[in-house]
Amino acid sequence: MSSQQKIDRLGPILHFRGGDESKIRVAAMIVSPETAPPPANITVRSGQIAPLLIATVAGLNFWRHDFTMAADEGGYRLGEAWYPVVTDLTGDMRIAFVSCNGEENGDLNRDSAERNIMWARLADEHSVSPFALLLQGGDQIYADEATKDHPLSEDWPEFAPENPDPQALASLTRHLQERFADRYMQILSAHVCAGIFATIPSLSIWDDHDICDGWGSLPEHLIKSEVGQAVFSVARQMYLLFQQGATDADIPALFWDPTGRNLGWQRDFPGVTIFAPDLRSERDRDDIMGPAGWRAMDALQPKGAHTIMVSSVPLLGPRLSLLETVMLAIPRMQHYEDDLRDQWQSHSHRDEWRRMLKQVLRLRESGPVTVVSGEIHLATRAVMGPQNTVINQLVASGISHRAPPSSYALCLGLFAGLGEAPLLGHPIRIKQLPGQKHRYVAQRNYLTMQRRKGHWTAKWHLEESGVTPALALDDERV
Ligand SMILES: [Fe+2]
Repeated sequence: MSSQQKIDRLGPILHFRGGDESKIRVAAMIVSPETAPPPANITVRSGQIAPLLIATVAGLNFWRHDFTMAADEGGYRLGEAWYPVVTDLTGDMRIAFVSCNGEENGDLNRDSAERNIMWARLADEHSVSPFALLLQGGDQIYADEATKDHPLSEDWPEFAPENPDPQALASLTRHLQERFADRYMQILSAHVCAGIFATIPSLSIWDDHDICDGWGSLPEHLIKSEVGQAVFSVARQMYLLFQQGATDADIPALFWDPTGRNLGWQRDFPGVTIFAPDLRSERDRDDIMGPAGWRAMDALQPKGAHTIMVSSVPLLGPRLSLLETVMLAIPRMQHYEDDLRDQWQSHSHRDEWRRMLKQVLRLRESGPVTVVSGEIHLATRAVMGPQNTVINQLVASGISHRAPPSSYALCLGLFAGLGEAPLLGHPIRIKQLPGQKHRYVAQRNYLTMQRRKGHWTAKWHLEESGVTPALALDDERV
């Protein structure tokens, strides 16, 4: 674990709640020691907003200001400080998309400037041409090491003891709360990130590392064990607090399943519907989503002209099922086989994959659909045809997770050459980013999307190659 100094103050961190032609709704979270006085009021044109204490966990108070800014207001004041925010969501706008903010091992001990180099570029861009929204597509933290240093979870996720003593289990919960909180506090307060989180309202969906590596694809006895359930429930509590500015009490207002079994969400603002299915809470080795997620997905109705789906694992991918078959035959490849089982393209999820693709085609009847996705620590894109129902997928990953070797990217590119068509008549093609020779780019990266005069384009920001030419999302050819 980290040798770094403990961080006990954080924020404000903005969470996007919605908006229309005349206003934007946000929540600002401030975290401080439980012994500290409440933070100052936030001042907006409509008045003074007092903070609400929504939780006390791991010695920290979580304070939330819920407020609205008028479209021409341009920001908020906290104490003496002015925080500029894009409050007009009606015309030209920019959205940033990031994923995979961390690494499995030793992430807290990395050199901050090196770790956050892409964040620094995003911050520079934001200061020149501000973003209205920050989408975070999964693995906002890598919590894997949180289970270390406690006797019950020391060997997680390989082993979980049976029938642990209730006192030991309570101590594990406290241990995990502290470790998760420490990690979030340090990562979110990083020097170059703090200004971004305070001035760009964000929308997040989690992936496995926000819980632990491979959550949902692990063997059932581990998932269902008391240690496994403690890991999940602490990860969920912390995800709600740090990534959504929420607790269980907010679930019916913020998420599409009022029971909270699936933490997917939908947000609408002028001309845009953004939604993110939760592909982790209900997952097991057989199913990616359960009844709650599917019910919400079936009922989803886009309100905007352009629908953006945030998919924590890529929805459109190459024929990985072939690779999976090879790996199943080789025992030492088991771990990679587990990774592949996390993907929609796995043998075990093929029917569900088709179901999701059909749903996305249903949404496509209302207008263009763009899928943004992370998870693979590479930049790439894909299209699903035919032309009259084209779906674009933009993959950007990771913002701070270092890329795998380029040989891995080349190998994936070979599989991608095979193409795939899980739905008859709807071929999927993996394509090069504008200006790139290979289909997968092994560099750290993030994505920006911009609306100009009603038309959407996207650019990738690659660590070594720089910014790609713009890809037009409205008239992309299959
Ligand atoms: Fe990741």
